[in-house]
Amino acid sequence: MRKVLVYLLFIGIVFTSCEQSNKSGMIGDSEAVFYPQNFDAEQLLPSFALLNEPVVTSGVNDDWKIKPEYYLSEDSLNAIKIPVGEAVDLYGTGEVFGDLNRSGKDVTLWNTDNYAYGKDEGKRLYQSHPWILGVRPDGTSFGILIDNTWKQYFKLTNPIEIKTEGPAPRVVVIEKDSPQAVIKKLAELTGTMEMPPLWALGFQQCRYSYFPDTRVKEIADEYRKREIPCDVIWMDIDYMQNYKIFTFDSVAFSNPQSVNDYLHQKDFKSVWMIDPGVKKEEGYHVYDQGKAGDHWVKTADHKDFVGSVWPGPCVFPDYTQPETCEWWGTLYKDFMATGVDGVWNDMNEPSVFDGPDGTMPEDNWHRGGGLLPAGSHLRYHNVYGMMMVNASREGILKVNPDKRPFVLSRSNYLGGQRYAATWTGDNASTWEHMKVATPMILNLGLSGQPFSGPDIGGFKGDGNPELIANWMAVGAFYPFSRNHTENNSINQEPWAFGKTVEDVSRVALERRYRLMPYLYTLFHEASIDGLPVMRPVFFADTKDQNLRNEQEAFLLGKDLLVVPQYVNNPSLPNGIWKTIHLLENDKENDGYQAELKQRGGSVLPLTKVMQSTEEYQTDSLTILVTLDKEGKAKGQLYMDAGNGFGYKNGEYAIDEYSAVLAATNEVIVNINQTEGSLKSKARYYKVGLVSDEGIKFSEWENDGLIKIDCKK
Ligand code: GLC
Repeated sequence: MRKVLVYLLFIGIVFTSCEQSNKSGMIGDSEAVFYPQNFDAEQLLPSFALLNEPVVTSGVNDDWKIKPEYYLSEDSLNAIKIPVGEAVDLYGTGEVFGDLNRSGKDVTLWNTDNYAYGKDEGKRLYQSHPWILGVRPDGTSFGILIDNTWKQYFKLTNPIEIKTEGPAPRVVVIEKDSPQAVIKKLAELTGTMEMPPLWALGFQQCRYSYFPDTRVKEIADEYRKREIPCDVIWMDIDYMQNYKIFTFDSVAFSNPQSVNDYLHQKDFKSVWMIDPGVKKEEGYHVYDQGKAGDHWVKTADHKDFVGSVWPGPCVFPDYTQPETCEWWGTLYKDFMATGVDGVWNDMNEPSVFDGPDGTMPEDNWHRGGGLLPAGSHLRYHNVYGMMMVNASREGILKVNPDKRPFVLSRSNYLGGQRYAATWTGDNASTWEHMKVATPMILNLGLSGQPFSGPDIGGFKGDGNPELIANWMAVGAFYPFSRNHTENNSINQEPWAFGKTVEDVSRVALERRYRLMPYLYTLFHEASIDGLPVMRPVFFADTKDQNLRNEQEAFLLGKDLLVVPQYVNNPSLPNGIWKTIHLLENDKENDGYQAELKQRGGSVLPLTKVMQSTEEYQTDSLTILVTLDKEGKAKGQLYMDAGNGFGYKNGEYAIDEYSAVLAATNEVIVNINQTEGSLKSKARYYKVGLVSDEGIKFSEWENDGLIKIDCKK
């Protein structure tokens, strides 16, 4: 008897050491934070993901379901087990390769330059999102945020197993009655994307690289000549002088201002690349300034770390130092003054060609400053890109205080939507990579990043007509929609594959631009409550378990279902979803365009087809009404200046549409401005009532009330 007692006591002690500390507790009605016994704040704080330090208000609720258990793994790493219950579907973990439903999958959180997603079967890519969304069979949902930048490994089983190469981190758990509510709470905790400039929602054309400047102009001309909608032309590294950032090739791009002016005259914007690696070359202004200011990341023995990237031997800004961020920001002054509209921060994992595992040594040294303590690269690696884009954004804002910055980043971390949009790095021109892009963007959206997209057409290798036609058709509906390819591949612009692909691309993009009022409204929504622009189909009915694995069809907002042509047997939600066409003359029936279905009970605002968002207007709109079972429908339109920050002072408008089928057999649409001081102008509406027989239109001048006679 005595022996048994001693034994039990022993187990008790072991178990207690696995428990969380008594610092754990509730930080909101349905959010809790868990700390390990040995929490080392110096090594783990401040948080990069959380906007504010969580404040514990009471002990963890007695009936709290998701409780992390801390332990030391067999390989002596700090580890956490989190029992999540049976039959739970797991999502999130950000930018990952593979299925939407992450249950049973492994992820390594270690930002990696992963060409064609080939390294480690794509189990680690360019970004890290230590965040898991769980959805139970009944639709209730939880979120688990591991507040840890150190290298870590997730095994998405039951229990979830997490190991880290750093100290044991704290864990924040959210419990809600739906995944949407969990995502909104994540956004409250980690922040939302700022409203991007409207032009960034337009289609964009890139390649590695358009060279020289005359080629850039040719591409722009070609778009306008062929009347294919497009907003942005991108400048990849070859515009630089010997790949030196913040320089321009003295022959091929001798006058960047004139390139930007040319593009602007044709209603294009320009985005130019800036990498973190600074060529180690005396006499080069960026190197000289950085050296004088002692801005470089150090080796373990406190020398400047030198590693090879595009320009050859490079040094790297240490963005943990506030003065380095400040200096980095100043570099954008002359750069932006040439008329650059947006900035593309690449290679910021950071990628180091001759470094261990393609990056810096883990024992490289970051000196910190402000609230950030000094620490090893193992600690700061995963946030290197995030710190870089934060510093870029700040610098750009200082130069252009009245414009919304647009920064695109390859590397980032949970919460990084606050600073930059995402593209998913170097994919390949294959069907597999086209298909995998959808779940990748969806999981990024479920991890707080609403603004992302892949290289449409694929980066590595040559595209072919079938692939590009299909990819352009679906890519027109990605939140970030940009065609890009590598340096030695064949051309990939919409016209490079002949008339069919060109026509398919034009129609796909005309559809995107026609949807711009709806899309912009969704971006506004994402900037407020963090709900993704592109959403998994299961968001339409979180209790319907048949939808949980659908990863080819997707939702844009809650009212529009996108079913790419290549999809076989998609699992679609029950209820009323009516097929809609956005263009006239059967243009969309080309065998490539995605099928669009509008939710019963919704009103979709559309604008005219345009060549770029410079022509965007909301004075004259089409609204499509699909009624629900009760004969009702609702919708919303957000409007502002499309750039600048006036909207933060109320210079915006939200119009609410509500439609109802009246006893007279007419549909009456009511339009009310519910928010904002920007006065809605007098508008002309073309109202389309969607039915199985097609769309019946009527035209009205806005007097706040529109009637469509259903008998016609
Ligand atoms: C990286 C980027 C790619 C870019 C290339 C050259 O591979 O991921 O998009 O074109 O570098 O800058």
